[in-house]
Formats: sequence, structure tokens, C-alpha cells
Amino acid sequence: MWHWALIAASLQTQAIPMEDLDLKAMVQEWGQPQKSRSVDGRPLSIGGVRFERGVGTHASSTLTVLADGKAVAFRAKVGVDDEVGTRGSVEFVVLKDGRAAWRSGVLRGGQPAKECQVSLQGAKTVELRVTDAGDGIDYDHADWAAASFEVLAGAKLRVVARPEEAPMKIASHRRDRTELHGPRIVGTTPGRPFLFRIPATGKSPLRFSANGLPEGLTLDPATGIVRGRVPKPGTYDVKVEVSGPAGKDRRTIRIVAGKGKLALTPPLGWNSWNVWGLSVSADKVRDAARAFVETGLAGHGYQYVNIDDGWEAGRAPDGEVLCNEKFPDMKALADEVHALGLKLGIYSSPGPKTCGGYEGSYRHELQDARTYAKWGIDYLKYDWCSYGQIAKDGSLVELQKPYKVMREALDSVDRDIVYSLCQYGMGDVWKWGNLVGGDLWRTTGDITDTWGSMSGIGFAQGKIAKYAGPSGWNDPDMLVVGMVGWGPSVRPNRLTKNEQITHISLWAMLAAPFLIGCDLTKLDEFTKDLLMNHEILEIQQDPLGKPPVQRDLGDGTEVWTRRLWDGTIAVALFNRNFAAKEVAVSWSSIGVQGSPRVLDCWRRKDLGRVPNGLRQRVPGHGALVFKVGTPKPAW
Ligand code: GLA
Repeated sequence: MWHWALIAASLQTQAIPMEDLDLKAMVQEWGQPQKSRSVDGRPLSIGGVRFERGVGTHASSTLTVLADGKAVAFRAKVGVDDEVGTRGSVEFVVLKDGRAAWRSGVLRGGQPAKECQVSLQGAKTVELRVTDAGDGIDYDHADWAAASFEVLAGAKLRVVARPEEAPMKIASHRRDRTELHGPRIVGTTPGRPFLFRIPATGKSPLRFSANGLPEGLTLDPATGIVRGRVPKPGTYDVKVEVSGPAGKDRRTIRIVAGKGKLALTPPLGWNSWNVWGLSVSADKVRDAARAFVETGLAGHGYQYVNIDDGWEAGRAPDGEVLCNEKFPDMKALADEVHALGLKLGIYSSPGPKTCGGYEGSYRHELQDARTYAKWGIDYLKYDWCSYGQIAKDGSLVELQKPYKVMREALDSVDRDIVYSLCQYGMGDVWKWGNLVGGDLWRTTGDITDTWGSMSGIGFAQGKIAKYAGPSGWNDPDMLVVGMVGWGPSVRPNRLTKNEQITHISLWAMLAAPFLIGCDLTKLDEFTKDLLMNHEILEIQQDPLGKPPVQRDLGDGTEVWTRRLWDGTIAVALFNRNFAAKEVAVSWSSIGVQGSPRVLDCWRRKDLGRVPNGLRQRVPGHGALVFKVGTPKPAW
């Protein structure tokens, strides 16, 4: 007998069927939640068994219920709806105050319903979640059948859409003071074209100077753009100074000329997918590049302007890949982007077709690499997609093969092209992405702008973070901040502000690429403040690229720490609960001695010397990030 049943028997309780709750606030990634119907509007059916009542949803989905200690239990029969046959795979999770209290394990189409019975004793909030089980949301029609809450007699359950907390105030990115930002270490292959815009902000006009530039490079003092070719391998410490009406700033930027040095820090840039989907065009890319300069993103170190799927047409008779009518002249577009000191990225698949059904590189790898080099492409996202039809099986040899082929092709051209593997983490790519010559590799399926998706991906990355580092980064997918849309029309982001702060804090602590996925011509102040916080970017771009240490405090809060190159420690406090919580961390527990200096990064506030440790209120679904210690720059 379940202990909740014993409790229920001794109390006066009543049942509230899940379908009687207000489902408008249920967040899901496809379709609408249905009362006693599947997501496609058919009678609920799992493993050939019909259910009269319940809720039909689609992964990833979350229903958040305020129980206020008045719920006793939840029970349901869960599974993939029969309307998708044997396709679809999901996991059902019931969370009590932010922590998983019950998991179904992965359930697939056609399997019988799994019985869910969870005690909810004492729970303030309950979340009913359906995840995509890590393989994307296709066909993930999920049923909470015969689902009901057992509550104390007379108790009501309230469904809430979002944390009700006020967003945390973060520092403005705007400041007059002259300031240098961005990577402190950049790489190039000897003899190949080099382009780097020294990131700086402040009251204009700014003037740049550099001491110790390697032979072959020249700096434009008005724009801070460095160009040329470094003929010889080596490490060059360049003393950079920027001055303007609001002062001066200096730092040493290390230029490393060698093989495989293109991503010494995780890439900073933009990618068209999360905003434009397949409707990307040259005009939209040009607008994004201009916005890099106008908004200050370029001044903060963002440099890659990446075109995702949707630029390709077929092939010319000689096999050369063609651009569709939305990209009338790729070389001219690259030239424009380069004139701004920025870089242009492109997308393809090792399969015959891309995920969007466009031309892939299968059997044209070398020719495509040459075409990219001719156009002036600086970054390639190479997406598995239809290669599944070519691969003989799911063995490591087969998973790696197409990535090796393109690596060889890229090596043979006279151009530095960052190589981004995209195969959703298959075969634990983090263990071998570097061996096949990747500069970064996607570790997950596609992200979307829901708390379930973003936090599910982000918090799970801590355990594989040790595989990432300079020249080989884990890529938990592109940022979901600002106006997104995955198609021709954009809409506001569904993550709350506090959730977006968590998103950027997680990605920064993970040293994950920051590839913005929103409409840069419609950046609001908050999104700019999120993306252009100097301290947060310093953590994300830290030259050591050390993995973070993730500590789960067991109450829905987590403390993450990471050693930085200047001897300081980045400390992030996360609260996965729906409600605010105090999070405490003692210096001794994270190996810090004495009373270190502490900087509150999001608020850009110097807290002075702090004894013992930190005790801070962290908003629900929110995060705080601190830099602890006195910086002693390593160069
Ligand atoms: C896959 C990738 C996405 C995007 C699309 C384009 O889904 O994971 O990031 O590139 O393909 O079709």
C-alpha cells in the first residue's frame, strides 16, 4: 500500500481531475493542451487502451500547480498517445517544489500506459512535466490519462503560468567609460587570413593602438580592426590600448598562431535559426551584422554572424552548390560582414539533404569547402540530418565518418573556418568531437524558449562539462532570449526575465558558446543588458576555459563554481524552485580562504570584502553570479 493512500485514508480528501484545472497556463511546444482528448483532438488512447478522461499534451510541456501544502497525492496513467503509432518518445516527470519526485523513464509510442502515483505531502508547488526524452519533440504526443490530484477537502489548486516574482534588476550595459571587452586570447592558422575587431565600448570616438602585433598584421586605429596573415607559428602578447573622451583602457590580448586554434574561447555571435528558421535571407543577415555594430554587441566581442539552414538551392552542372534567391551574392555579403570586422558563418549537412530539406554536402564535401573559402566563410555548422540514411549503423565509426571527411576538406583550403558539429549529442560526442577536429559540438536536441527545455538542457550539462575546454566546446544550443520565432514572424520570448538570467548564467558558467537567436533589430534594453554584461562575458570568455563544479544542494537550489584565469572564482547561485529561496555557500566549502573581495556580476556591484561566505535571496527560476577574489591577470 502506498503511504499517500494511508494518509489519504486518515484525512478527508477529494479528487480534482487534472482536466478540470485551468489548462491555459500549461506551456507546451506544439499544439494546445486538450481536455480528455489527445493533442490532435482524438479520444485518449495509450497502448491500445482508451481513457475517458485526462489531458492530451505535447512535449516539452509543463503544468505548474500551486498546491500550498494542501495536496496529498497525484496519480495518472501516462504514455505516448496511439495517434502517432510507434513513433514518439517522452518522459513524464512530477516535480515537488522543483525536485523530481517521480519519473516515468522513457516511454515510446505503442507501449502500455505507465502508472504514476506520487505523494505530494507538504508540496508548495507541483510541476507536471513531459520532456522530449532528449531526442527532439517530433511525434511526442503525450497523455496524462486518468489523472487526478488528491487534495484536502475543500482545497483548491491554482495553476500558474510563470513565476510571479518581480524580475531581478540587472545592471545597464550602457556606460560612457571606455572599456575593452571580449576574448583575451585569439587564434589563427599561420599563413591564413586573420581578422579581428578589438571589442571596446565607451563614448566615441575611440582610438586604438597595439604594441607587439606579430609581423603580417596591421591595425586600423579608428575601428580597432586587425587584419593580415601571421606567417609563423607562435604566441604573441599584444598590448592593446583604447582611448576616447571618457578615458582609456588597456589589456594584453594573446594571439596564438598554430594549428586548430580557432576557438580558444567559446564563440560569441548570432545564428539565424531561432529567429528566422527557414525564412532567413541575405537582408536579414545584413541587418543582423549592422546591429552587431549599432547595439554594441560587436563592442562586447560578438563576432560570428551565422546563417543557418535555408540559404541553399540545388547544384550547378559542375556540382557547385548554389544559393537560393534570398541570397543573390554570398561573396558580396561576406565582404560586407568582413568590412565591419565581423565573420560570416554558414550551415550544411553531411547528408544529401539538410534538416530543412535543402541541399546537403554529401559527396560534395571538398567542393563545398572550396566554395565556402571562395566566398569568405568563417564558420560552418555541419548538421547530421539526413546522414542517418547514409550511415550503416549507429556505431562510433559511422557517427564520426562524415565529420572527418569535412574536416579534411576544410584543412585543404586557404581559410580559417570554425567547425561546429551538430548531431544532437549522439554517441557522447563530447568524448570524441575533438578527435574528429571539431571546434565545438552540439550536446543536445533543439532548444526552445520554455523553462522545461532551457533548464532541462542547461542543468544537465554540468556532468559533461569536463569534456569541454579551449579548442573544443560543448554546445548546448543557441540562446533563446529576445524576440524569437523560427519562421517569418517573430514573437516575444516565453521565458521570464529571471529565467533568461538563469539561461545566460548557466551558459556563461559552462563556457558554452553565446550564439544569440533573436531579431537583433528589435533588441529591448533588458536583452541588451543580458547579452552585454561585461562581468558575465568575462566568465564566458575566460581564457582557461575550465569546467564548472556543480553542487546540488538538494532543495532545488544549486551552487556552481569555476576557477578563472586571474585567480578569482566565479560563483553562481541557482534556484530551480518556483518561489524565491535563500541560498548559502560558505567559503570553506568551495576552497576559498579569508575574506575575499566579491563582485556581484549581474548588478555590477562591488560588495567589498566578505567574510565566511554568501547568503543571498535568489528569485524563483533565477540566478545570481559573483566573482570572488582579487584578480591577478595571468598576462
Ligand atoms: C536541426 C538543428 C537546428 C537547425 C535546424 C535547421 O534541427 O538542430 O539547430 O539547424 O536543423 O534545419
